[in-house]
Amino acid sequence: MSKKLRWGILSTGHIAHKFALGVGATESSEVVAVGSRTRDKADAFGKEFDIPRRHGSYEALAADADVDAIYVATPHPMHAENAILCLRRGKPVLCEKPFAINAALAGQMIDTARQAGLFLMEAMWSRFLPPVRKAKELVDAGAIGELRMIMADFGFRGAWKPETRLLNPDLAGGGLLDVGIYPVSLSSMFFGAARAVASQAHLGETGVDEQAGMVVKYDGGRISVITTGVRTRTPMEAWLLGTEGRIHLHREWWRGNPLTLMADGKDPETIDPPMVGNGFNYEIDEVARCIAAGKTESDIMPLDETLSIVTLLDEIRAQWGLKYPME
Ligand SMILES: NC(=O)c1ccc[n+]([C@@H]2O[C@H](COP(=O)([O-])OP(=O)(O)OC[C@H]3O[C@@H](n4cnc5c(N)ncnc54)[C@H](OP(=O)(O)O)[C@@H]3O)[C@@H](O)[C@H]2O)c1
Repeated sequence: MSKKLRWGILSTGHIAHKFALGVGATESSEVVAVGSRTRDKADAFGKEFDIPRRHGSYEALAADADVDAIYVATPHPMHAENAILCLRRGKPVLCEKPFAINAALAGQMIDTARQAGLFLMEAMWSRFLPPVRKAKELVDAGAIGELRMIMADFGFRGAWKPETRLLNPDLAGGGLLDVGIYPVSLSSMFFGAARAVASQAHLGETGVDEQAGMVVKYDGGRISVITTGVRTRTPMEAWLLGTEGRIHLHREWWRGNPLTLMADGKDPETIDPPMVGNGFNYEIDEVARCIAAGKTESDIMPLDETLSIVTLLDEIRAQWGLKYPME
């Protein structure tokens, strides 16, 4: 078997755990190192996942010669600095969503990777899941005629903990960057770059968006209607509406659930593509495939598209007057 991609995980929080489990479900990859701001946390994480190389700083992880690629899983405002640190040390990077808190920082990350000729990708894991790939395949094959409109949402009622990253402006809290980005990215995958947006949000006590609604317009009059929130539970569904039918991505579509094809004049067909692992393995395999092939970007989640998504998020926040303290 060919050599596995040797990952380093930068940070030891909630999603870093899921990623480590996801790597375990691949043939392509292994985790060989972890870096934390504190040695104790690196040791505890390393022990939990049997990771041999444990670093007490992100700098030491980035400099580890036995690491082939790094997964950045810090809170949103740190993504740019952490990803650039790794790229400057010659490491390809998979960076959690939102790629950056604004387009200026996203641009710096992309420029750094391109100048160094290194792989870089936003970790929009949903895009790689079999049911979402299936929906794309069906739309591309004309199964619902021409796709004209998308209705998609991702909102949940999180606990009132103003200091945590979901509500804390110092950690770029709010629904849009955390979960609204999923339906925004889904729409981008089908419709390309946005041409106009109208939106409203409720900025709560901490000053970040607790709930929001957006109508986004794309070329050819195609439209997405998106809702999101971290204090309001939404249906968490996606509907792809075409001239000759619809596709329904079931509840919690972003984690890879069944879809129903409702082609006009035919019986509805529910499709449940087989999934293995915890889902993160699909994006991990994509990174390993790209790096093995000498590619610096993924065709499924290209950097210009990531930049256009972050640019749209900037425009939406500008409409609300939401600027983070570190901007
Ligand atoms: N793809 C997904 O499904 C998914 C799901 C959840 C979150 N995410 C994304 O992943 C990122 C991290 O989210 P999370 O839920 O894993 O967060 P988390 O549990 O708070 O973990 C973040 C980690 O980042 C490090 N860190 C560095 N600076 C920090 C700071 N100032 N405050 C707090 N932590 C800091 C810490 O690790 P050390 O102490 O070890 O350095 C911490 O454990 C976010 O950007 C989020 O959007 C993605």
